[in-house]
Amino acid sequence: MKYSLRIVLNCSILGSFLFSACGEKKTRIDYSGWAHYGGSEDGARYSSLSQITTENVAQLEVAWTYNTGDAGERSQIQCQPIVVNGLLYATTPKLNVFALDAATGAEVWRFDPFQVLGGENSWAGTNRGVSYWENGDDKRILFGAGNWLMAVNALTGEPIMDFGVGGKVDLRKDLDTDMEDFLIVANSPGVVYEDLIIIGMRLSEGLDAAPGNIRAYNIRTGKREWIFHTIPQEGEFGYETWDKEHIRQIGGANNWAGMTVDHERGIVYVPTGSATYDFWGGYRPGDNLFSNSLLALDAKTGKRIWHFQAVHHDVWDRDFPANPNLIRIQKDGKWIDAVAQISKQGYTYVFDRETGEPVWPIIETPVTQSTLPGEQTSPTQPIPSLPEPFMNMVFEDKDILNLKPEWEAQVREKLGDSKMGDTWLPPSADNGIVLFPGMDGGGEWGGASFDPTNQTMYVNANQIPWVIRMTANANFENIGQAVYTNYCGTCHGLERQGNPPAIPTLLGVKEKYTADSLDILLQKGRGAMPAFGHISKEERMILVDYLMGKAEAPADKKEMEAAKSMLYPRYYMNGYQKLTTNEGLYGSNPPWGLLTAIDMSTGKKKWQVTLGEIDSLSAQGFAPTGTENYGGPVATAGGVLFIAATKDEKIRAFDKETGKILWEAKLPASGHATPAVYEKNGKQYLVIACGGGKGTKSGDAYVAFALPD
Ligand code: HEC
Repeated sequence: MKYSLRIVLNCSILGSFLFSACGEKKTRIDYSGWAHYGGSEDGARYSSLSQITTENVAQLEVAWTYNTGDAGERSQIQCQPIVVNGLLYATTPKLNVFALDAATGAEVWRFDPFQVLGGENSWAGTNRGVSYWENGDDKRILFGAGNWLMAVNALTGEPIMDFGVGGKVDLRKDLDTDMEDFLIVANSPGVVYEDLIIIGMRLSEGLDAAPGNIRAYNIRTGKREWIFHTIPQEGEFGYETWDKEHIRQIGGANNWAGMTVDHERGIVYVPTGSATYDFWGGYRPGDNLFSNSLLALDAKTGKRIWHFQAVHHDVWDRDFPANPNLIRIQKDGKWIDAVAQISKQGYTYVFDRETGEPVWPIIETPVTQSTLPGEQTSPTQPIPSLPEPFMNMVFEDKDILNLKPEWEAQVREKLGDSKMGDTWLPPSADNGIVLFPGMDGGGEWGGASFDPTNQTMYVNANQIPWVIRMTANANFENIGQAVYTNYCGTCHGLERQGNPPAIPTLLGVKEKYTADSLDILLQKGRGAMPAFGHISKEERMILVDYLMGKAEAPADKKEMEAAKSMLYPRYYMNGYQKLTTNEGLYGSNPPWGLLTAIDMSTGKKKWQVTLGEIDSLSAQGFAPTGTENYGGPVATAGGVLFIAATKDEKIRAFDKETGKILWEAKLPASGHATPAVYEKNGKQYLVIACGGGKGTKSGDAYVAFALPD
């Protein structure tokens, strides 16, 4: 190892500081503030504040509430605020950015992207946070709104007009592709390294997706400084893991979950998602580097240092869902600076930060193969021997919900001929498959918290089965259905039935919309409904005709030809469907929500508890079942672990050593976000965005808690 034992002994914890690495460079990471997405500069989701303790946490009360006033019917707030120099920065459901006095919640300024963008294209979507940068008196907040990266003055909220073009950078440009018209949503904040902001983006999951290139922009000018091609171009490493004929038409392999920078080493760690089309990879035979990978890039230049691919040739949408944790652990007596990446599939992958060597062996293991025509799945997948998974890894007959016989019967009926009992069952057109761990994790975008004082990682998870099935593509006699299936089917279902309440049915749109208002909705998007301004006008017209119940095939020959020249998958997934009872209870035996503590020096679980409660089931005498959960935990030096995330509209505090619940409070709407912990005027605060959504009622509040005076 690089660091001798003598130096290591100097690297113990000193008050609120921790030596992140010792030896030549003595950078200390300050865990007392919350100036970054994830709190500290390494995004640990850990606070060294200790005013709130296991003893007094039950006395927490609401210190202030800020209502954004712009919640919509299904809107969400996924934002984790940052706090710099006493100001709290966050975003609203309609993607306004604001600054509050962090002690009182009083608004200092508020910026609406409309001021700069007007009606320009779409800036709908969700936003998970903002980034702060300063140089002397020049202090900036950077944030994404749809396909725009914008900069405003951190003290006044005034747009910085010489950033990019008129205060904004168009992320559809400078992608190194032939095309520019893509769906791009900058939902997770970029990371700041020196004068660079490094950023990824959320893309379409269809064959209309942009390549998920990672880019760094100069924060002073908005100029693109470097790009890393996550789908390699000819001559670049990894190009041979694709099919040459189609590679330029394939997108994805994008980073939508955020990144983490090791400032001392100048390395940015970038987790990526799957390549498109997500569920049938017939146009992309091969491993498909750098999809589903953890990339270590030189933060200054974007050059690849090492990479690890967790799913070869993904056909399950197993994107890496959160930014990784930089951890420092003592394993077998030796200190290791490692990077830990949680996943949707319930595993945590841990590597030496510099070399990319796995800290525990990761074993290529033979897996079940696809039988779909044209599909060639990977013969093996990498399975980590440790850390222990943070959820069940298979769903078997014995796991079918059996709390009541009628529920079990309903679930069995829904299962039909679906196969189960294998994490790596490939999607099939002959039968359904139970996707477990499910489409929304395992782990999700809330990420994990790492406490450097006890080397423990805390991670919440959904333990919910999904059922997917593939359907052969409609033939082009029915072009409307083909175009619909390609762009809309995965969310709204192949039969347009939707997946209420989160995703509405489209069967009644004829009554609700005119052709024009439908076209506008498609161009602009709304909340979690992405904008489709990037697809051709011909295709939009075909869609509108199809949804309005007009003639099946367009009369216009040109429309028909344009649509036919597109690449469409030969098989489609028939919609994001959870396995549930008729009343919507999940089809597995609980717990459905989990919170797990893993000792990262041994890779073993310390404790695991149920996260969340469904009151109607508790009232019937069932033990708490847990709920679906989105948003991460925060561990603190006061011995307390905070997390909201659950669908029961509560925030909770756990004893970080035992998992015992110490406090809970009802929120105005579900806190589907990660809390922030900070201090102002000697007082410790805990703040959470209560935006609801995801099938719960929407909200518009940020609520801060503190101890009474
Ligand atoms: C990523 C998932 C996703 C995709 C892909 C998607 N939608 Fe949606 N759609 C949604 C969600 C979520 C809503 C609800 C939005 C809201 O009101 O907040 C929605 C709403 C709608 C509505 C409004 C329904 C109503 O009752 O008011 C229409 C119409 C619609 N979508 C059409 C489409 C069409 C056409 C496509 C394909 C071009 C498409 N959607 C693709 C998720 C999606």
